[in-house]
Amino acid sequence: MCGIVGYVGPKSAQGVVVEGLRRLEYRGYDSAGIALVADGVIASAKRAGKLANLEKAIAEAPLAGSTTGIGHTRWATHGAPNDVNAHPHPGRTGRVALVHNGIIENFVTLRAELEDAGHELASETDTEVVSHLLENEVLAGADLTTAMQRVCRRLEGAFTLVAVDGLDASRVVAARRNSPLVVGLGEGENFLGSDVAAFIEHTRDAMELGQDQVVTITTAGVSVTGFDGAPAEGRRYHVDWDLSAAEKDGHDWFMRKEIHEQPRAVADSLLGRRTASGELQLDEVRISDEDLREIDKVIIIACGTSFYAGMVAKYAIEHWTRIPVEVELASEFRYRDPILTHSTLVVAISQSGETADTLQAIRHARAQRAWVLAICNTNGSTIPRESDAVIYTHAGPEIGVASTKGFLTQLVACYLLALYLAQIKGTRYGEEIADVLDQLESMPDHIQAVLDQREAVYELARQHVDTRSVLFLGRHAGYPVALEGALKLKELAYLHAEGFAAGELKHGPIALIEQGMPVLCVVPPKGRDQLHGKMLSGIQEVRARGARTICLAEAGDETIRPYADELIPLPRVPTLLQPLVAVVPLQLFACELASVMGHDVDQPRNLAKSVTVE
Ligand code: F6R
Repeated sequence: MCGIVGYVGPKSAQGVVVEGLRRLEYRGYDSAGIALVADGVIASAKRAGKLANLEKAIAEAPLAGSTTGIGHTRWATHGAPNDVNAHPHPGRTGRVALVHNGIIENFVTLRAELEDAGHELASETDTEVVSHLLENEVLAGADLTTAMQRVCRRLEGAFTLVAVDGLDASRVVAARRNSPLVVGLGEGENFLGSDVAAFIEHTRDAMELGQDQVVTITTAGVSVTGFDGAPAEGRRYHVDWDLSAAEKDGHDWFMRKEIHEQPRAVADSLLGRRTASGELQLDEVRISDEDLREIDKVIIIACGTSFYAGMVAKYAIEHWTRIPVEVELASEFRYRDPILTHSTLVVAISQSGETADTLQAIRHARAQRAWVLAICNTNGSTIPRESDAVIYTHAGPEIGVASTKGFLTQLVACYLLALYLAQIKGTRYGEEIADVLDQLESMPDHIQAVLDQREAVYELARQHVDTRSVLFLGRHAGYPVALEGALKLKELAYLHAEGFAAGELKHGPIALIEQGMPVLCVVPPKGRDQLHGKMLSGIQEVRARGARTICLAEAGDETIRPYADELIPLPRVPTLLQPLVAVVPLQLFACELASVMGHDVDQPRNLAKSVTVE
């Protein structure tokens, strides 16, 4: 949610900042802007709309050459996405410029204070208030670092701030509270970014910052303090992916590329999980075996697609460990006063590791002394840092706003966690666990087999350009898959799409069925006969009322043929693992349909990749 870039070094700051914004554009794309320090003044440009609008403006009216600059790509919170509300925001005299991600909760009070002192604010944003306060401090004689520390002490809310001073080209200063910011460490140059994608083409050495810290970058180095000015340290780490992972690799959309990366992403997420003696090991889990044996309840918290991964995890954990599992939307969790004890394990699933709803839920859980384990794809992000343990998924950077490989690798991590708990608690024999691990290790080939049928799925998608409403049905582990298929279609194709547990249909939603309405049905493998039979009944019910059924069923399942207007064969896999293959055609379907409808698949309207506001 909002992408932020800062640079100081020998290169053209405009080039570095605009390139960084391009890589961060998935975080927000309502407007974009840049501010450079050149010849003792700030040169700035900002435009509503995508980054291309800003680039056009700069091409038409070039900015002065500079080696110190900041930039921003916005997902609007306060104020409409227009040129005036776009960042950077200057102070009263234009001496400083500031970009911001997050929400300043006490901005109304601060704005009133400034207006009483005669300041006129041009925008509706909370950010401009901070740039005026910052400039007041600088005009009173403070250097930009000290000014930032003083201003941050007055702010409430969640924020990443990055600022420059027109009279000091030697530094860029940033601060963070509950909002992402990483430092890129170069030779004679340093970078700031909302995430490492902002500077990955220049350096893979990064530094994560703690809560309530101010960082100053110069060509000579990086210094970190608390908001109180006390010296502090950031944690240095090396990024294990490179520029090529952040490129489209010949695909039209990042999303399509990421769907096709899933066999590798799943394989990578399974790597190194077995010891020489064949036992399952999760070396990032830092909760002792004794404490894990005491766990008597698991609560999974997550949002959106990650929540659906959590729903699948419930089936796996309960089946393999017999520990009761609740799955809860992170945004609802702390408002219902959940029952948490020291023997509760809270599992927080988040691809980005920055989702504010999930982060606040974690904090609530930890305050109640529950254990928190994060499943996360982003090294150095806040959620794993604030958890007792973490299982990293190894999907690589996910740039497309709609999660795909993030979801599949979350499923893998959930299965691994379930098996690990079963191993520790002794609820499954070693051979059973090894069998499931073998099955998981064969999943990349199965996923590839589904991808190899993409043309048939694309053709089906293209037939639905004029469709206004699509339903998805599933049962058991297929139910979250149905929900995920519907979410993908809503967010990418802007269609009315809903997922249902097939058994629920007759309790109301079946009234929605009209002649010719497409209904995508996730059919469980035949091994679970009751489940399979019940699903067939559900399909017959909608078909009898005129629905056009598109059935995803395992290859060789002949019983489904009479009820399927279209059939998408799936590889034969166990019921619990079926989501790993069943969701893939639904991702392909949504990607292709949105694409032929002319939508921007990577940057759907109103969305942002990392939702850092509650
Ligand atoms: C949908 C999607 C979102 C995210 C949700 C949580 O395609 O990507 O629903 O799953 O915003 O994000 P993370 O996993 O980063 O916490």
